[in-house]
Amino acid sequence: METIIHALILLSVVASHIIILCHAQNTTLITQTCNQTPNYNLCVSTLTSDPKTRYAKDMRDLAIIMVLHANGIATKTQNHIFGLIRNRGIAGLERQLLNNCYQNYSTIITKRLIETVEDLSAKKYDFARDMMKDVQRSVNVCEGSFEKPVKSPISVDNKAMFEISGVAYAIVSYLK
Ligand SMILES: *[C@@H]1O[C@H](CO)[C@@H](O)[C@H](O)[C@H]1NC(C)=O
Ligand SMILES: *[C@@H]1O[C@H](CO)[C@@H](O)[C@H](O)[C@H]1NC(C)=O
Repeated sequence: METIIHALILLSVVASHIIILCHAQNTTLITQTCNQTPNYNLCVSTLTSDPKTRYAKDMRDLAIIMVLHANGIATKTQNHIFGLIRNRGIAGLERQLLNNCYQNYSTIITKRLIETVEDLSAKKYDFARDMMKDVQRSVNVCEGSFEKPVKSPISVDNKAMFEISGVAYAIVSYLK
């Protein structure tokens, strides 16, 4: 009995390795795709760190993975803003601007990213491209709304968001 169990365990380990080998990441596809973007290193590191990349057949699949990453960063940013708003030490104009950014992230940015994934799935590339452009614009408006003397407490998040959506925009723009 024990031998059979050992054999089964061994078999499943071998099988899972075979599956992984069959789905090695297509480095040519990743390189070709990331060469179209303004941030090659960010593009490559984002794609290679995602297990879904193994199953990507073409540039469109990689575009979808990148947009999903942008959505993850948008969600993290929203959570960060939410935490700041809950902090009683933040008041007045800073609180108001953070509230606006929170609105922008929840209603505009996240919604558009989900629509972008839907458009990409339906091969509506022009719509997807316009959506990604709007996402970048909204991130800029949020960051730019902070003016002296109120320093943006979410610059790092907005910068990360702007960069990843710039990479996603470039890939989406390349699709035909
Ligand atoms: C990898 O991507 C290249 C470029 O898109 C493509 O020509 C090639 O067929 C792909 N290879 C595999 C194993 O899917
Ligand atoms: C961001 O949200 C605020 C408050 O809801 C709104 O007035 C503003 O137009 C939004 N900005 C963008 C770029 O959508």
